[in-house]
Amino acid sequence: MDNKVNFGSKKVDIKEKPKLVSGIFSSVSNKYDLMNDAMSLGLHRAWKEKMYMVSKAQDNEEILDIATGTGDIALKFLKKRDNIKLTCLDENSEMLQLCKDRLIDNGFIENIKFNNSSIEKAELNKDKYSLATIAFGFRNFTDHKNALKNIYESITPGGRLVIMEFTTPANNVLKNIFEKYTHLVIPKIGKLLANDYDSYKYLAESITSFFSPSEVSDMLENAGFESVRYEYLPGNMVTIHVGYKC
Ligand SMILES: C[S@@+](CC[C@H](N)C(=O)[O-])C[C@H]1O[C@@H](n2cnc3c(N)ncnc32)[C@H](O)[C@@H]1O
Repeated sequence: MDNKVNFGSKKVDIKEKPKLVSGIFSSVSNKYDLMNDAMSLGLHRAWKEKMYMVSKAQDNEEILDIATGTGDIALKFLKKRDNIKLTCLDENSEMLQLCKDRLIDNGFIENIKFNNSSIEKAELNKDKYSLATIAFGFRNFTDHKNALKNIYESITPGGRLVIMEFTTPANNVLKNIFEKYTHLVIPKIGKLLANDYDSYKYLAESITSFFSPSEVSDMLENAGFESVRYEYLPGNMVTIHVGYKC
């Protein structure tokens, strides 16, 4: 059996990847928000707003934000609907601590839980969350099949999973620009603003070596999700996927 998985453009042993990914996020955590703005030219804010709209979050929903990072999605959802019950999950303790501090600084303390675990190994209650979200974390997972199985089991019947992830545009001109920007510019911005060329080289490589949107749809369907669909955001470099548990 092949025990190798993608780590950026390299293949690494499946057992090594969680440590390598966590090392990257420990390294970028203190500059993560600044870098997000710099690398996306601020566009990630509009993408996250769109994700909120697509998720159709309701009052009092029980929501699991997976790969929560420094809490952009968590904060956005709480600001829009402050009566939701939210669990923020991330395998990297430094990113999760930044999320916790940020939510508290914004006055959000009640009905929020923090789970410092990989989604593959997380112990989650069955049929608990009516909405699970993953923004820009899915491509970093080690074992997508187990991660999706765990997520599927934790969602209530009728609930949905919403994933937002980068994708390489299919159009050749856009693809060329996107790949040049990702591989040549992003690591240099990382060096300039965070003095960390290598971590941003990995993050760039993890974008272009990731599955296509239709492959992600297949993965969701294989995990049991139904009415699976995806849509491109303007520019075709970000996709939002939705799947339901029936
Ligand atoms: C690029 S950040 C995205 C953060 C946030 N969702 C956002 O959109 O700004 C990816 C996050 O995924 C987390 N992560 C990576 N692999 C994970 C896994 N298998 N389980 C849980 N979290 C994971 C990382 O620690 C990191 O905080």
